[in-house]
Amino acid sequence: MSLELGSVLPLRIDALAAGGDGIGRHEDLAIFVPLTAPGDLARVRVHQVRERFARAHLLSIEEPGKRREPACPYFARCGGCSWLHVPEATQTEARIRILRDALQRIAKRSDLPPIESRESPRTLGYRARARVAYAAGRVGFRMRGSHEIVPIEHCAVLDEPTQLELEQLRRRPPHGRGEREIRGFDVRAEGLQVSPGAFFQANRSLWRDWATLVAQCCGSGDVLLELFAGVGFYTVQLERRFERVLAVEQALSAADLRVNTRAEVFGTSVETFLQTYAWDPMPNVVLMNPPRIGCSREVMEALSEHLPRRIVYVSCEPSTLARDLGRLPTQYRIVRIVALDALPQTHHVEAIVVLESG
Ligand SMILES: C[S@@+](CC[C@H](N)C(=O)[O-])C[C@H]1O[C@@H](n2cnc3c(N)ncnc32)[C@H](O)[C@@H]1O
Repeated sequence: MSLELGSVLPLRIDALAAGGDGIGRHEDLAIFVPLTAPGDLARVRVHQVRERFARAHLLSIEEPGKRREPACPYFARCGGCSWLHVPEATQTEARIRILRDALQRIAKRSDLPPIESRESPRTLGYRARARVAYAAGRVGFRMRGSHEIVPIEHCAVLDEPTQLELEQLRRRPPHGRGEREIRGFDVRAEGLQVSPGAFFQANRSLWRDWATLVAQCCGSGDVLLELFAGVGFYTVQLERRFERVLAVEQALSAADLRVNTRAEVFGTSVETFLQTYAWDPMPNVVLMNPPRIGCSREVMEALSEHLPRRIVYVSCEPSTLARDLGRLPTQYRIVRIVALDALPQTHHVEAIVVLESG
């Protein structure tokens, strides 16, 4: 039976896909359905058909799969958490599968070690910062698939101080419309100076263990080069393990980085830094933690030319991670992969990949 717009059909959901939707197969076509869970038998209505895939809306669940009652009244309307209806163990399995799939399909790596996972100590009430939207006196999060605002009184994943920030904003909504970041910490989180606008990891319950794990993946030695260092979340631990730490971060956060660490700070773009860096001293380890868009081609070319012995890539987006690793010479072996449940209840996948050359 060919699939047409508006077709209604039963669909068994096999897995959760990158982006958060459940995915099932109808003949040769993959069908993506939001708000479904692995094992669900769902009745769905198709609203988009492409050559290789289709998209459908969920009409009803005929047989429930690995699902549960979501712990939030805004679930399905609010665009914030797409997996609140799925138990944490199933979310973790999905993150590992999405990561493995990206590394195999996009980076074309068939030599992957088993993927380890690190769960978040808290799965609700863990978030120490969030982007909130406001318009015409309403304050909340963007609606799923829309720019409309769902007014939010209590958010299940915000920690207490950040929830209080949300309540304050609701009491005095800003004029006009826009977005604003709320934070449950002042300028000193974990003993670090974090100026307004500077990046800081969102999951408070993971802060300490996460930085320690990244530092362990880097090992110890003479010289470490850290690219995209932020305000020094990892740097402070790396200073105890390496004789010299060179840290690169664009101007705004570089000021905090200088206050927080004793590293040799380069307050410029990673691209500009690499254009002029003579690779003397030669780093034993390069740690990199770019934003979601990943690294530019020049960054991966510079690493490919100078071949540091170990590269530790921390990523919040498997597809760009895999693209960038695919640009490294094949002499780099992947020796360790860790998937982190950095933002439980969301489809966000955070990963650490350790590569060694030779
Ligand atoms: C995902 S954050 C990681 C920061 C830090 N590792 C942490 O965990 O807090 C990425 C950082 O890269 C910085 N950044 C983004 N593009 C950059 C570029 N082209 N050159 C230098 N820094 C950049 C951002 O300012 C941000 O601090």
